[in-house]
Amino acid sequence: MSEKILNSKKNAGCYAAELVKSGDVVGLGTGSTVLYSMERLSERIKSEGLEIKGVPTSFQTASRARALGIPLTTLYDCPEIDIAIDGADQVDPSGNLIKGRGAAQTRERCVASAAKRFIVIVDEAKLTQTLSSPVPVEVISFALPLLYRVVKSLGGVVKVREGVKKDGPVITDNGCIETDCNFGEIDDPEKLQTGLNNVPGVLSCGLFTEFREKIVVVVGDEAGTRILC
Ligand code: A5P
Repeated sequence: MSEKILNSKKNAGCYAAELVKSGDVVGLGTGSTVLYSMERLSERIKSEGLEIKGVPTSFQTASRARALGIPLTTLYDCPEIDIAIDGADQVDPSGNLIKGRGAAQTRERCVASAAKRFIVIVDEAKLTQTLSSPVPVEVISFALPLLYRVVKSLGGVVKVREGVKKDGPVITDNGCIETDCNFGEIDDPEKLQTGLNNVPGVLSCGLFTEFREKIVVVVGDEAGTRILC
């Protein structure tokens, strides 16, 4: 990854960490951009005595939070989250998102849904006029044939995501299969999301259209940050 992208991610990640107040329950997303937020939160805990509890969205994020000294909690203990911070893979001008490069979109959706504020942090390379990346879809293995059938009827193609240093599919933190469904340019993200969610056995897809009311998209570049919407 280029220095420019890394600096842009860092600026967006640090900006979001400054929005957190003492006493907050914080949704901790997954990925490289959120890691910068977590590092900054860790610094604030040590230097300012910031008191927070994090709800992690993946095994990886939980491990990183522990290593950084960020106290963790669960949705059982804290079903209401003050602020969730997460990355995204593509964002359109209305704040429609594609997420799930890290196969964590189901827990990310649960945490975003429980949050009063949903801060999405991206670098400029993630911005697009029209969403077009393959849409990650997590599905129980039993229902994979149904997903093939429905995605085909919606004009797309399913690819089961292959593991790295592991033959066969990526198995998610929820014990399911991660797929990437390519539809080319997505004219109506909301309709596509509904179509994918209606497949029995699908846990969650990477389209996040239902959060437009509470979402704030922070775009980082080398100089700083701006709010997209
Ligand atoms: C995890 O499943 C994803 O939704 C990530 O939040 C998303 O891919 C952004 O990741 P980066 O911040 O690493 O680009």
